[in-house]
Amino acid sequence: MSKVTRFDHPLVQHKISKIRDKNTTTKSFRELVEEIAMLMVYEATRDLKLEEVEVETPICTTKTKVLAGRSIGIIPILRAGLGMVNGILNLVPNAKVGHIGLYRDPETFQPVEYYCKLPVDATERELYVIDPMLATGGSAIDAISSLKKRGVKHIKFLCLIAAPEGIEALQEAHPDVDIFVASVDERLDGHKYIIPGLGDAGDRLFGTK
Ligand code: PRP
Ligand code: URA
Repeated sequence: MSKVTRFDHPLVQHKISKIRDKNTTTKSFRELVEEIAMLMVYEATRDLKLEEVEVETPICTTKTKVLAGRSIGIIPILRAGLGMVNGILNLVPNAKVGHIGLYRDPETFQPVEYYCKLPVDATERELYVIDPMLATGGSAIDAISSLKKRGVKHIKFLCLIAAPEGIEALQEAHPDVDIFVASVDERLDGHKYIIPGLGDAGDRLFGTK
């Protein structure tokens, strides 16, 4: 079963409270989503491999460590995942970015894929699939299945707010994918919105409602 990492850090919790607030402006919402994503990726990259190298300081030669091993790719689920990209790139500037376009059918709540473009070397990278919201889990499950169909093996999923139902569904569908989530909320409502949540993440990021 995959691991679920929650973030109880005060800075993350404070910023999550701000994005829940319906009075938070689009500008602040965007900035906060980026900041939370940056704080989360600090933890999500904890298991990156290091190798020892020798460097010359102005004083002497020393052995020290630098990143080695698998490079990272960031895969935002369109649209709302886009809001997390720059925050992650702040800490992992050499990551490549691919895109998966999915929307949730408003009647059936099922995800519909309309776009997929990945880095050419996606199968050699560790891919971080990102989306602020994990509600039923349908979008994340389909996005990850789509990557696996294209040969990707190393995947993590990062979201800001999740419903327990979404976490359970994602763990069941993809037990090899670790989940990083800033806040696990109470439940889904009849329209499959997260309660208390923050509303529609895409609309709040892009000011479309
Ligand atoms: C939202 C959100 C997730 C999805 C979560 O996107 O950004 O992708 O819903 O719901 P699920 O876990 O039940 O699949 P939406 O479909 O509203 O598309 P948008 O980002 O284009 O607004
Ligand atoms: N998508 C959102 O943007 N918000 C929710 O609460 C559920 C799905």
